[in-house]
Amino acid sequence: MKKVIAITVCLLLKFTLISCAAVDNTSHDKNRNTITVDSISKEKILIVYFSHAGENYAVGHISVGNTAVMAGFIRDFTGGSIFEIVPKVPYPDSYEEMKTISTNESKNNIRPQIKDTISDLDKYSIVFVGSPIWYDGPPMIMRTFYETYKEKLKNKIIIPFGTHEGSGVSSCTDLIKEYFPDIKSYDAFGVRGRDVRKSRDSVDTWLRGLGFAKNKSDVNEKISIPVHSCNDFILQRNFKCTKNEKRNTDY
Ligand SMILES: Cc1cc2nc3c(=O)[nH]c(=O)nc-3n(C[C@H](O)[C@H](O)[C@H](O)COP(=O)(O)O)c2cc1C
Repeated sequence: MKKVIAITVCLLLKFTLISCAAVDNTSHDKNRNTITVDSISKEKILIVYFSHAGENYAVGHISVGNTAVMAGFIRDFTGGSIFEIVPKVPYPDSYEEMKTISTNESKNNIRPQIKDTISDLDKYSIVFVGSPIWYDGPPMIMRTFYETYKEKLKNKIIIPFGTHEGSGVSSCTDLIKEYFPDIKSYDAFGVRGRDVRKSRDSVDTWLRGLGFAKNKSDVNEKISIPVHSCNDFILQRNFKCTKNEKRNTDY
């Protein structure tokens, strides 16, 4: 009897391993021509962001800014490189002071200088660009960024993202359209600053919806698409925009 059981278990194990291997192969074959980070090549992805750590609306004092947290999620998922837009003249910690500075920058159409330069922008084909919203629009330093790199950015895929506290981030898309009127239209993905630290899953879902995949086994069959149509796919997709969210603010 023991012998029969042993043979049965062996046979079952054998079949299980064979079928697992078959699933692995099938999914590998199926995914070979879809967008995965391997096939896009993470070396082609750059995540640029501006973020203000310190005292901020609704979150108190934070050592890592809200948009920086979101940029980190994008980096973790895609494996891309990060460039932080750091102002040459550092901003103060105080939220009250930031309100005055930001108002002054917008009113006077100021272009705050950026501390470092991106020397290797040519090597990237997909650039995520993220920022907070200051008085219903991206901070003026984002204009400095687009104006500095306009020529180099115009042939790349720019994917906007950002954090806000009620205004939504559609103004990030508007700014891109302003600098690159010929680019096909698509919406930015936004998260409320106060919620960003628990938003990794929604960021991952958004990225999967764009056609990115964390790794080959992570490809969602429904959104996997052939690599050759990657650019069209990303530019043509419409993302849910948060621009009509209710405001509850004093900024
Ligand atoms: C000066 C200032 C102005 C702001 N204005 C707005 C605004 O108009 N609409 C909005 O939704 N959030 C506004 N906020 C909130 C920020 O967009 C939000 O807290 C964001 O997550 C901050 O991101 P960061 O930590 O990456 O800088 C403002 C914040 C500051 C500091």
